[in-house]
Amino acid sequence: MSLNTSTSSHLNYDRKAELIAFDQTKTGVKGLVDAGITTIPRIFHLPLTPENLNSDQTSGLKPSLPTIDLEGINDDPIKRKEIIEKVKDALETWGFFQMINHGIPNSILKDALNGVMRFNEQDTEVKKQWYTREKVEKRKVVYNSNFDLYTEPVTNWRDSFFCPMLPNPPQPHEIPEPCRDIWLEYSSRVLKLGHCVFELISEALGLKPNHLFEMGCAEGLALLGHYYPSCPQPELTIGTRDHADNDFITILLQDHIGGLQVFYQNHWTDVPPIPGALVVNAGDLLQLITNDKFVSAQHKVFANKMGPRVSLAAFFSTGLYPTSKVFKPITELLTEDNPAKYRGTTVYEYETYYKRKGLDGTSALLHFKF
Ligand code: OGA
Ligand code: NI
Repeated sequence: MSLNTSTSSHLNYDRKAELIAFDQTKTGVKGLVDAGITTIPRIFHLPLTPENLNSDQTSGLKPSLPTIDLEGINDDPIKRKEIIEKVKDALETWGFFQMINHGIPNSILKDALNGVMRFNEQDTEVKKQWYTREKVEKRKVVYNSNFDLYTEPVTNWRDSFFCPMLPNPPQPHEIPEPCRDIWLEYSSRVLKLGHCVFELISEALGLKPNHLFEMGCAEGLALLGHYYPSCPQPELTIGTRDHADNDFITILLQDHIGGLQVFYQNHWTDVPPIPGALVVNAGDLLQLITNDKFVSAQHKVFANKMGPRVSLAAFFSTGLYPTSKVFKPITELLTEDNPAKYRGTTVYEYETYYKRKGLDGTSALLHFKF
């Protein structure tokens, strides 16, 4: 790999001015690719830190992420018990798993991803009208490139589209036309599936099935569609930098291209695309309420010559919707030997902190630790 490009240039240029110029195009990373660039602008260059240079080249057998088959979950109590055991193992160790036979038909998954594609590939002038840096409280739907463009040290090779669905659902006309019907359909499906996953997680914690639901973990849902354009110099940048999610759980739908990795036992391990599967991962808020029993693992997405890659993440969180409910480690999980490690917080307070901090490679949870 040639590494001569930019150690010093990363420091010696007017980064802010170039970020503003990029932002003002309102066409995101896709706009650059459409314009035919063959080298990537330096705002996207990763600083050449040891971790970035040493992108896990270890060979040899790596453990693979568990895939859990949900077939029979509601009619076979023995199966259900086995599944709960697998969910528990996966969330205690990986913080991630994939699930198949989850009940959302393939045709709906396909169309949901196509909706992300259609939104991004619609007429540029129409799409620009959705581009904004306004906060979600002011505007429901937010399309832009890098939510933390001006605060994070690394600009990611990605455009994103954010749409909060609950607790305050958008009016249909507030959702862009290319994905309107399918996202409404997909959110109701994924919400139902989310309830089922929260039941499994509650039981995996030894609690009654509706415990997490009654705590309010499923009160918020937002859809986040990502578009990762094909990248001419993928080794110099990143699609989504390493981060943990700012929610209770995420249910992620990815296409066939690949590039998502999770950090497990000190290695980056692929989350391979499996047709028809959905990825589930624990977010920071689940780690907080389970007092670190379930882990909100770091994950990232490569930039890739192949593309565009699209994904659609369903975030279970009320996000920046003003809420007063306080979440803290679940009393039933605490003992004298396992006292609460976190103070209580509202989702709003946590989210405000996470967004202000941006994706800087550190965990937002530390801020809430005793
Ligand atoms: C996210 C995320 C992964 C992907 O939205 O938080 O990690 O595959 N997305 O796009
Ligand atoms: Ni994520």
